[in-house]
Amino acid sequence: MSRISIIGSGVVGSATGKGFHELGHKVIFYDISKEKREALKNDGYNVANNLSEALSQTDISFVCVNTPTHNSEQDLSQIFSVLQHITEYLNTAEKQHLLVFRSTILPGTMRNEIVNYLEKNCKTKRGIDYDVVYNPEFLRQNSSLDDFFSPDRVIIGEDHAQLSKILVEIYEPLTKNIIVTSFEAAELIKYASNCFLSLKISFFNEIGLICQHLGIDHKVVSLGVSLDKRIGKYGTEFGRPFDGMCLPKDTQALASFIKQNRIEPDLLEIALNINKKIEDLTSESQLVSDSTETHS
Ligand SMILES: NC(=O)c1ccc[n+]([C@@H]2O[C@H](COP(=O)([O-])OP(=O)(O)OC[C@H]3O[C@@H](n4cnc5c(N)ncnc54)[C@H](O)[C@@H]3O)[C@@H](O)[C@H]2O)c1
Repeated sequence: MSRISIIGSGVVGSATGKGFHELGHKVIFYDISKEKREALKNDGYNVANNLSEALSQTDISFVCVNTPTHNSEQDLSQIFSVLQHITEYLNTAEKQHLLVFRSTILPGTMRNEIVNYLEKNCKTKRGIDYDVVYNPEFLRQNSSLDDFFSPDRVIIGEDHAQLSKILVEIYEPLTKNIIVTSFEAAELIKYASNCFLSLKISFFNEIGLICQHLGIDHKVVSLGVSLDKRIGKYGTEFGRPFDGMCLPKDTQALASFIKQNRIEPDLLEIALNINKKIEDLTSESQLVSDSTETHS
């Protein structure tokens, strides 16, 4: 049994903490929102009133705060707010702590922002007093707890050996597909997964527009294509843009990041343009999807 704290108890944090709790770990939640803390307390979970209280009673913290996209750029303000409090705690801590970052973050963020901030601001030493790993989450918002218990894979990003061992042990009951890799590869795996889903949705929306133009039944075309096991059903229905909390923000953020690295994000731009077209058509009610699928 591990002693785990959850920092940021929204969609991802709640599912992660409740999942670990059900697996028999001792879990303490913390969220800046009093409402979220009260709701978790009312459901019978352990909740800390501040971040230090959560960290001092645990050995591993999963940081699950949000990383929204603003003007196509990732906004790390919630991460930095947490880092400031973590640093205050680490500067007086008397035991080791492992920090596990769960938020979706662009390649280079762990090394250049998070590790850099901690190493500059903590009097205690990384590798001795505390350490840091990256462990992105792939769950869907509408089935977050179920997805926690049946992950297709667990990705762990680290920059020196041994750290991942603790996390591998924690995740082993859930899946055999555990990949331990670099910070940057883990960060990009998360974005590449979400951006592939955006591309897939836009591809099938384009096929749907072609069907509409030619008077072909788009439903039978989607079905006929999606029954190919290599393709599958998710995202093949016509008339829904990619929406939800993650796909638009992550596709925009990766496209912008790629541009900053002087690479043309050709496919991602096409996916975003088709998505805009479908959004416009749905808002003009020219397309009505009967899909119940959630793209998150
Ligand atoms: N929602 C999804 O389906 C999903 C799936 C996979 C990955 N992600 C990624 O996981 C991350 C979290 O997403 P989410 O949907 O859970 O976000 P969310 O907004 O639901 O939860 C974030 C929580 O962090 C809290 N918070 C903000 N600042 C804080 C601070 N300083 N201290 C403590 N708590 C603080 C907020 O009050 C909020 O409850 C994002 O990076 C997102 O891209 C989300």
